[in-house]
Amino acid sequence: MSAQVEQRRLTAPDIRSRKGGLPIVALTSYHAHTAALLDRHCDVILVGDSLGMVMHGLDSTLPVTLDMMILQGRAVMRGARHALVAVDMPFGSYEASKEQAFMSAARVMKETGCGAVKLEGGRRMAETIAFLTERGIPVLAHVGLTPQSINALGSFRAQGRDEADWQPIEADAQAVAEAGAFAVVLEAVAEPLAAKITRDVAIPTIGIGASPACDGQVLVLEDMLGLSPRVPKFVKRYADLGPAIDNAVAAYAAEVRSRAFPAPDHTYALKARTPAKAG
Ligand code: KIV
Repeated sequence: MSAQVEQRRLTAPDIRSRKGGLPIVALTSYHAHTAALLDRHCDVILVGDSLGMVMHGLDSTLPVTLDMMILQGRAVMRGARHALVAVDMPFGSYEASKEQAFMSAARVMKETGCGAVKLEGGRRMAETIAFLTERGIPVLAHVGLTPQSINALGSFRAQGRDEADWQPIEADAQAVAEAGAFAVVLEAVAEPLAAKITRDVAIPTIGIGASPACDGQVLVLEDMLGLSPRVPKFVKRYADLGPAIDNAVAAYAAEVRSRAFPAPDHTYALKARTPAKAG
């Protein structure tokens, strides 16, 4: 008889120890049910502030609030048992001061039960990352293309495609590693630069539009499932669920209109009565 072994939840130190080892598998999730599906396959589930665009149809991540992140973080924690769940700190919840960052991150961790927070920014966030990690909050850093800075960047274009631009991006990755982040997301960073950063920094790099040399990869779930209308070049579609949903909904609508649905299998008949005994 084989005893069922309870798989313990991965922690930030577990992910940190994967530097140079088996690649880290990460995806985003915002719901309990998708989190449960991902949990069997992923090391990290990221409750990304991309939920602003994916779930709420916003144009950017800027309007996303701490309450929105906490609500979906809780849902994901109900679905995931094994993966490390990291919740994004939304724009405006951490940049003003390290104290503001601590209060926001502590709320996220208390109210969701997640194992880490993610925040955007390199050198400018190093002091904050050190402050949080020294106080028991594991931080996943995010450098390269940082979507919360879209108004300053001007567009969502890849970073470091010209070697002359490499130095500040490398300095950002080094700074967050030295500040105590347990891993760093490299978003839309030119491939050779992402590979170089991965060689040079002591913590795992998790690429999105970066390099196969990174210590792990992350994608937005809806993008890789074919549910997002427009996706960046770096997304590979592993499924095409958009047309499948369209076909299913069209079939349902036709059957409702023709009264073919619900069929007898989908309705409740009266209970069969047992005849009363005579005498
Ligand atoms: O918000 C998000 O989903 C992210 C990933 C794209 C890394 O930050």
